Amino acid sequence: MRTLKFKNGDQMPAVGLGTWKSKPKMVENAVEHALKNGYRHIDCAAIYGNENEVGNAFKKVFDSGEVKREEVWVTSKLWNNAHKKEDVIPALKQTLKDLQLDYLDLYLMHWPVAFRPDVKFPEKDEEFLSLEEVPLSETWEAMLEAKKQGLVKHVGVSNFSSTKLENLRKETTEMPEMNQVELHPYLQQNDLLEYCSEHGINLTAYSPLGSGDRTEEMKADDEPVLLENEVIQKIAKKHNASPAQILIKWAELRGTAVIPKSTNEGRIEQNLQSVGYELDKEDFEEIAKLDKHYRYVKGDKQFATEGNSYENIFDE
Ligand code: A2P
Repeated sequence: MRTLKFKNGDQMPAVGLGTWKSKPKMVENAVEHALKNGYRHIDCAAIYGNENEVGNAFKKVFDSGEVKREEVWVTSKLWNNAHKKEDVIPALKQTLKDLQLDYLDLYLMHWPVAFRPDVKFPEKDEEFLSLEEVPLSETWEAMLEAKKQGLVKHVGVSNFSSTKLENLRKETTEMPEMNQVELHPYLQQNDLLEYCSEHGINLTAYSPLGSGDRTEEMKADDEPVLLENEVIQKIAKKHNASPAQILIKWAELRGTAVIPKSTNEGRIEQNLQSVGYELDKEDFEEIAKLDKHYRYVKGDKQFATEGNSYENIFDE
């Protein structure tokens, strides 16, 4: 499998297992099944509410000796209510405790948005902390400190625009090594890909399959179903692959990491098998035409109310 390279020589396997929306009862089996079937990259986050169960799977598999801790790339993310500098390391330590690990391979700032420490999902303006109260650079410096202390090997961000990355570049000493963003044929992120490659930042593609299992209230009425796209289906047929495998392979061939979520054993296996396929120039040309800047994950609507400091979270 392809890997993404980091400056210190570390390598992250391009295809990982996503765990957003995986129910706690199902995620333990999913992670165990994934690790026993060749996955060496698991993507987690505190806010997914299932790190305890992911941790049970890690313990079981690592204790069995079948897979060693150091063979697996584990990512987790800092939730938006722990952005103050004194809150970052305690939040990270809670994640390590839940995951039953003594270090993470990668820790990401989940969103460029800060909430009050007592708020999980804000409903009112006063539940946010403004960028003046907690600048992104403050949170970032605390994450760098976590790396210095050896609690994490690499640090990065998620849902950052190139504008926000550029601001961070001016304000801090060390750039994020990773930016994890929504990325798929309907949202190809060409400009961000170019910016990140110029500045030595790796990208991870989330919701690569179109994130069809979001709750109804998170979905738009007229939402396009990526897995049912005719071009993707046609290319899948041509290669004797499934549409999901084409989407995963496409992301992998573009040099990004990709973290399809599944709790179904057959689909977990199928998604990793995507690495065995190839796409040709024609496939790429056809998929390039599908870009329509469509976001499934409406972070702009979720976290930005008119007039608060997060009004234009994606800087578009
Ligand atoms: P399930 O967990 O039942 O397999 P995303 O990674 O973009 O968030 O997409 C996750 C959604 O895609 C989930 O609904 C997941 O369902 C589904 N999914 C995962 N792998 C496949 C696959 N190979 N074929 C079809 N659907 C899949």
